[in-house]
Amino acid sequence: MFDFEFHNPTRIIFGKGKESAIGAELRRGKIRKVLLVYGSSSTKRTGLLDRVLGHLSESSIQVVQYGGVVSNPLLSHTRRGVEIAKSEKVDAVLAVGGGSVLDEGKAIAVGALADDDIWNYFINKNPEAALPIYAILTLAATGSEMNGTAVVTNEETKQKYPIKSPAIYPTVSILNPELTFTVPPDYSAYAAVDAIAHVIEGYFSKAAGPVLQDRFVESIIKTVMETSRIFMVEPDNYNARAEFMWAATLALNGLTLTGVEGFSFPNHMIEHSLSAIYNIAHGAGLAIVIPAWMKWYSRNHAGQFERFSQEIFGLSGVGAGIEALEQWYRGLKVPVRLGDANIPATDIDMIAANAHELGVRWGIGDEYPVSAIVEILKFAV
Ligand code: NZQ
Ligand code: ZN
Repeated sequence: MFDFEFHNPTRIIFGKGKESAIGAELRRGKIRKVLLVYGSSSTKRTGLLDRVLGHLSESSIQVVQYGGVVSNPLLSHTRRGVEIAKSEKVDAVLAVGGGSVLDEGKAIAVGALADDDIWNYFINKNPEAALPIYAILTLAATGSEMNGTAVVTNEETKQKYPIKSPAIYPTVSILNPELTFTVPPDYSAYAAVDAIAHVIEGYFSKAAGPVLQDRFVESIIKTVMETSRIFMVEPDNYNARAEFMWAATLALNGLTLTGVEGFSFPNHMIEHSLSAIYNIAHGAGLAIVIPAWMKWYSRNHAGQFERFSQEIFGLSGVGAGIEALEQWYRGLKVPVRLGDANIPATDIDMIAANAHELGVRWGIGDEYPVSAIVEILKFAV
């Protein structure tokens, strides 16, 4: 067990109908005026947007609406949101949507208090301040509702980069599993892939031990597999959506990485390039990268892969777990090879160069030189 500090300041309000508490929560935080950030169409279609506007009105919260966040949120749209947040002098950001909406909302919250361009904070500055962030989550997957990370794509440079800061943990996140009943099958599947990816990265890349964290991870993986099996056929099964939602939050709120050392996120490093260049869904990219990375990485790290095979699938051997995970992806009908997402193998060098740039920023550029990323991606052909 390595030394650690753990502080997660986000208050989670979990359960049926809990979005009705948003007005009272904002008032408790002395918020008078919010920038209400949302996506393209789902919150309007489901009636959630109108309901939230009603709750805000009941609590006399002034609202400036800012919709149109796309999946894999864009820098240009983020910049416009920053301008509006500044000119309207809002006190807080309220993000209503999935991880993309939350992430763009977080970036706007940073930009609203900054004098310089928001992209600077993605490439060479740490955000030290942000407007308070409130969230109503409609798609469980990314963990953004309880972490200090936001990922945005610079569409001009094809860089999909994160900001990380204690300043962007949401103050309050409301998690009502019922709001996720309408998530379509493709994004429900991507969500399951992403939640497992968040715990797999540390599980395999960290130094050996401690076993408590291994067991947290295995519990999250098994829970995601069991609940997704149910909600893929029964999208409005409350218990399955609820257990999945909390598992996805715990997968990336810092808990599983307490007391571990040496971990990194190489699959996310490579996937961000696939999303940045081809605008594919994050979970789709991960299902392509992870089996390839596992085949490459397990050659020198057999022990934890044997444990994974045994604990998750009841199988023995290094490769058995990798094969079973890939079969699980296929069952979810997500792409597992570059070709499944129409990404030509001839692009591998270009993808690897893009991913390596992010790897250098993450301090894993030496462990993952361009040549290694090329080798990994060749397993995905
Ligand atoms: O835009 P709308 O119309 O709302 O539609 C969205 C979008 O098309 C739809 N949707 C969301 N909730 C729905 C719904 N449709 C019906 N009913 C609902 N209740 O689903 C589509 C995908 O939404 P999106 O927010 O993009 O999905 P997700 O939550 O998977 O977020 C993905 C983004 O998060 C980043 C990813 O890279 C990607 O950009 N990540 C953020 C992380 C973080 N902040 O810690 C970590 C992750 O590793 C990840 O990188
Ligand atoms: Zn992810």
